[in-house]
Amino acid sequence: MTEPLRFGIVGCGVIGPTHAEAISSLADAQLVAVADPVVERAHKLAAKYNVTPYGDIQAMLERERLDVVTICTPSGEHGKHARQAMHTGRHVIIEKPIEISQVAIDEMLHTQQEMGVKLSVISQHRFDAATQQVYKLVQEQALGRLVMGNALVPWWRSQAYYNSGAWRGTWEFDGGGVLMNQSIHSIDLLQWLMGPVKSLYAYTDTLVHTMETEDVGVAVLRFANGALGTIAATTGAYPGVTTRVEVFGDKGSASIENDQIGYLHLARDEQEAASDYGTNLQTARPTQKGTGATAQNPAALSTHSHALQIADMIRAIRANGTPLVDGNAARHPVDIILGIYESVRTHKEIIL
Ligand SMILES: NC(=O)c1ccc[n+]([C@@H]2O[C@H](COP(=O)([O-])OP(=O)(O)OC[C@H]3O[C@@H](n4cnc5c(N)ncnc54)[C@H](O)[C@@H]3O)[C@@H](O)[C@H]2O)c1
Repeated sequence: MTEPLRFGIVGCGVIGPTHAEAISSLADAQLVAVADPVVERAHKLAAKYNVTPYGDIQAMLERERLDVVTICTPSGEHGKHARQAMHTGRHVIIEKPIEISQVAIDEMLHTQQEMGVKLSVISQHRFDAATQQVYKLVQEQALGRLVMGNALVPWWRSQAYYNSGAWRGTWEFDGGGVLMNQSIHSIDLLQWLMGPVKSLYAYTDTLVHTMETEDVGVAVLRFANGALGTIAATTGAYPGVTTRVEVFGDKGSASIENDQIGYLHLARDEQEAASDYGTNLQTARPTQKGTGATAQNPAALSTHSHALQIADMIRAIRANGTPLVDGNAARHPVDIILGIYESVRTHKEIIL
């Protein structure tokens, strides 16, 4: 019988434990070691899963037999740590964002190519059932011609959250604020469902928190397929409410709200054709609502979607295929976010 793939985790802060739980839930994966320079974090996580703790990533890479290394360190260090792991021939799973600058992403993908290893970047909400359902419908053109797509992220993070790690809310290590950190999930879904963004114009500001980067941002978008859209995001919306990604077409409309279908209307499924004024809303499908816990607390994340994404990487490694969110896929939302920052700096429309 084939031995399960052996995993090591780099970074045992908020998200590292989610990776440990997700890896442990998969039959074809085995957690072997964890590393964090804050050794009590490494020891605590290692004790829970009965694996070996390290205070230093290089020591873990040298001493342990590992197939896959997952990078759960501050965003601006992803490139350094991923390249370190890839240079030892390990496949890597990297937390979002892939990195915070084009140069760092280029360097990372260059190393990946040189070493011939697989690379997957966490965008776990692509694996949510609701997202998969809407994606499939868009691919089948069941929504018709796409006209508008919106991402709304009205979240709350306290000042204590930003103070909980010196890297949070900094340009150097977070790479931005609510857009680069919290909203990248919804921005990735929006561009995955709607297709590439061609141009944008944006405003951002820092209104509530003491931090370098933005805690509110709004962008208007033109997609390559001609549709228009918006991104509106903040970590200053107490107490943190519904995250929504909306896709509208001339034959259907869908919203994903807190990772579940909020509404889904397809002309092909309606009992009666819509009147000139649209459909009577009573014929709409019932709305399901999630709790939206991560709108308030990043540690309230369920591990299920992470496990699905790690399983997707395992499939890619076993079959010598490509994971759903490889390096090229993962750079699109970062390109959009960097474009937003450039628009704010230059007061100009940015063509991506
Ligand atoms: N997918 C999601 O929903 C999600 C949720 C939260 C965070 N994240 C991402 O995960 C990453 C980490 O975020 P976090 O909130 O867990 O941060 P955190 O500060 O809680 O944890 C980061 C950990 O990395 C450790 N670290 C730093 N340098 C290291 C090194 N050289 N070797 C090993 N460990 C090192 C730190 O000591 C810390 O324990 C960020 O990129 C963030 O964007 C993703």
